[in-house]
Amino acid sequence: MNTRSLSFRLVAWYAGVLTIVFVLLGGLTWLFLRHYLNTNVLGIQERRAQQIADTLLTPATRIDEQRLRQQVEALYAPEVNGRFIRISAADGRLLYVCGVPRDGSFDPSQVPQAGAAPLPWARKQPLAGTALLIAAVGARAGDGSRYVVEVGTSSAATEATLAHVLGVLAIGLPVAVGVAVAGGFVLVRRALKPVESIALKAEDISLHNLSERLPVVQSGDEIERLSVALNRMIHRLEDAVRSSKQFVADASHELRTPLTVMRGELESLAQDAGLGGETRETLGSVLEEVDRLGEIVDGLFALSRLDAGEAPAERVRFDLGELAATTAGQMSLLADDKRVSVSCESAGGVTVEGDRARLKQVVVNLLDNAIKYTPSGGQVRLAVRREAGFAVLEVSDNGIGIPANALPHVFQRFFRVDRSRSREQGGAGLGLSIVKSICSAHGAEVEVSSSPGQGSTFRVRQPLAAGPALQS
Ligand SMILES: Nc1ncnc2c1ncn2[C@@H]1O[C@H](COP(=O)(O)OP(=O)(O)O)[C@@H](O)[C@H]1O
Ligand SMILES: [Mg+2]
Repeated sequence: MNTRSLSFRLVAWYAGVLTIVFVLLGGLTWLFLRHYLNTNVLGIQERRAQQIADTLLTPATRIDEQRLRQQVEALYAPEVNGRFIRISAADGRLLYVCGVPRDGSFDPSQVPQAGAAPLPWARKQPLAGTALLIAAVGARAGDGSRYVVEVGTSSAATEATLAHVLGVLAIGLPVAVGVAVAGGFVLVRRALKPVESIALKAEDISLHNLSERLPVVQSGDEIERLSVALNRMIHRLEDAVRSSKQFVADASHELRTPLTVMRGELESLAQDAGLGGETRETLGSVLEEVDRLGEIVDGLFALSRLDAGEAPAERVRFDLGELAATTAGQMSLLADDKRVSVSCESAGGVTVEGDRARLKQVVVNLLDNAIKYTPSGGQVRLAVRREAGFAVLEVSDNGIGIPANALPHVFQRFFRVDRSRSREQGGAGLGLSIVKSICSAHGAEVEVSSSPGQGSTFRVRQPLAAGPALQS
């Protein structure tokens, strides 16, 4: 359990406050109950003492101890009822004291006399093993002599009730807190659910689906404000990304025409027979750079169109093996120039659906790299096969390979492992990003494995199309 999480802290705080409130409330209830029970029992004792005084002492002109004893025993049977009754004269002389009750709960002879305490009084008298709740009243007999009547009862019954209530509180409080905490946890979880779905959705949003928005729960609270604010931020991001993409698209588009014109004019210049050797050489190299620039601009233009999510020109079913073989054939001149052998194996009938021209670009770019980064005498192998519902295109070579630290970056724009060497070979580092973009647009995945000095393998995995290939 994450103790730093908002839900944990909220519930812990809530549980703490609840426990304090419940304990205070339980404690107060218990204290009040104890006070109420004791007062009640003492009140009963006092009334009984008053009753004894009024019926047995006040009317008598002279107190006969023997008769008093008989009357008290007959009327109140203190031993049977577990009651304490003591009658004494004002000077402390005992007239009557009850015997030990049948349940043996207390010993009357142990109860100290109150002495000169002002009457009436009521108190709790602790004894060995128990306590008595005693009340005392004064009485004046017909002859004017004063007496004290004390009546009491064991506090065991009230104590048992209080212990019982304490037991109920001790079990009930943790249960109540537990139930409240569990309920609180569920509530907090539910309250934070929108945050979770916002986070999940936010994780999902990338440069490719910036048009999507976070869910907004119309709760009128901070969570709604948060999602609305984030959505506005995504909207601004989308605008910024769109205008930067538009800029690249416009720039590359605008550059194409002057470049074509420049190329044409340079070419016609080069044909001028009157040029000196050095000038011709310079012109050749300028032409090469113009070609390179043209390639970069074309690459950027292609990427910006793919970025814009422009719908593919066509979506047809075709045989990927046949496309690979044709492309390999068309590029054999390039391979022959470098004395690299290109072989192509195809399982046949590997039908995919998509934009044929763009998927051909994938094969061209991968083959171009394989030939470019394989020294003469090397081999490039193209293979097309089916694999569990997928069409797999594999381009492998036994060329220079790619160092492990560069592997994660090869699909990034303008990334080249060795900038100086790539420049010699004319690459701008856009070929593989175009491959990746085309693959994404076709629901395909491209991956690479390579070991430096031994060669590389690029593998494209695309879902097979249902139905046969259309004849091209
Ligand atoms: N078959 C390969 N063998 C070795 N390195 C490769 C291979 N394919 C790509 N690379 C490396 O990946 C980088 C990016 O490739 P790419 O995007 O096609 O750019 P470019 O070919 O224009 O340099 C290349 O510069 C090269 O360093
Ligand atoms: Mg390339």
